[in-house]
Amino acid sequence: MLDGKALYRDILNATEEFDATFCIGQGGHGSVYKVNLPSLGNIAVKRLYSSFENTHPKSFMNEVRALIGIKHRNIVNLYGYCSNAQNSLLVYEYVERGSLSSILSNEAESKKLDWLKRVNIIKGVAFALSYLHQDCSPSIVHRDISSRNVLLDSEYEARVSDFGIAKLLNPDSSNCTTLAGTYGYVAPELAYTMKVTQMCDVYSFGVLALEIIKGKHLGEYITVLANSSTRDYVQLSDLLDERLPYPEDRVKEVLVFIIKLASSCLLETPKSRPTMHFVSHRLSSMNPRPPTHVRQAK
Ligand SMILES: Nc1ncnc2c1ncn2[C@@H]1O[C@H](COP(=O)(O)OP(=O)(O)OP(=O)(O)O)[C@@H](O)[C@H]1O
Ligand SMILES: [Mg+2]
Repeated sequence: MLDGKALYRDILNATEEFDATFCIGQGGHGSVYKVNLPSLGNIAVKRLYSSFENTHPKSFMNEVRALIGIKHRNIVNLYGYCSNAQNSLLVYEYVERGSLSSILSNEAESKKLDWLKRVNIIKGVAFALSYLHQDCSPSIVHRDISSRNVLLDSEYEARVSDFGIAKLLNPDSSNCTTLAGTYGYVAPELAYTMKVTQMCDVYSFGVLALEIIKGKHLGEYITVLANSSTRDYVQLSDLLDERLPYPEDRVKEVLVFIIKLASSCLLETPKSRPTMHFVSHRLSSMNPRPPTHVRQAK
C-alpha cells in the first residue's frame, strides 16, 4: 500500500512542482508527467485539470475504482492516487514506448512494428477488453478505446490505459451518461441512445484493429467495411500499411482473418457484434495455425 501523502511530496519534489520539462503529454483529462522516484523507479503521473476532484469527484473516483485491483499483462497498472484541493494525481507504471498512435504516425517507428508485432498488439487489446468485460465484477466498459489509449512496453506488448471515463457496470444502476470517447471510434448507436454497453467497446476495438493493420485510422472506409453488401468490394491491399512489405501467405491469412473479425465488430446493430470474449478466443486459437485450419478442425 502506498502512503499517499509521502508519495505526493515525492512527486512534487521530483517534478519541481510540475515543471513543464517533465511533462510528456496532454489529454482530455489532464497532463502526464514522467517522474523518477527512488522507491518506484519511473512512473507516469497524470495530473488532472485543476480542482478536478472538487468539481468532478465522480469521474475521479470512477477512474480510481475501476483500476484498483486490476492486474493484467495488457493493462496499465495503477499504483495509487493522491488528491487534495490543489491537485488530483493518478500514479501509473511508466510504459516505455508511449502511445500506439504516436508510433503509427512516425515513419521509422511504424516500420519497426512488423505484421507479427501488430497481430500481437491486437490480441493484447482484445485480451484486456475481454478481461474487463468478462472477468471483472462488476464488469467494466472502457469507453475510450483508441490508439492514443494503447501504450506499448519495451517488448511491444500492448497496455491499455485510461479508464477516466470507464464506468462500473452495475446491473441495477443506469448506464446513461453524457457522450464521451474519441471521435472516429464511438459506436454509431451512441448518436441516438446514451446507453453505454460492452458492445461500444467492441465497435471501438474493430476500428482500432483495422487502424493497426492499415497504419492509420480508416476514416470513411469504416462504413464500407461495416456493410456486408459493400465489404466484398474492398481490396486487401487497400487495408494494409503500405510502409511494410507485403505479407507472406501465412501472415496474409492471419491478417485477412483479423480484418473479417474486426469488420464484424463494426456492425450497426450492437447485438450482432461478437463479444470481446468471443473475439479474444478466436484470436488466440488462430495461432500457430492459420485460421482456415482452425475452421476445418471444428
Ligand atoms: N503510463 C504511461 N506511460 C508512458 N506514457 C504515458 C502514460 N500515460 C500517458 N502517457 C503519455 O502521455 C500522453 C497523454 O496521455 P493522456 O491519457 O493524458 O491523453 P491521450 O491518451 O492522448 O487522450 P485521452 O484524454 O483520450 O486519454 C499519451 O499520449 C502518452 O504518450
Ligand atoms: Mg490517454
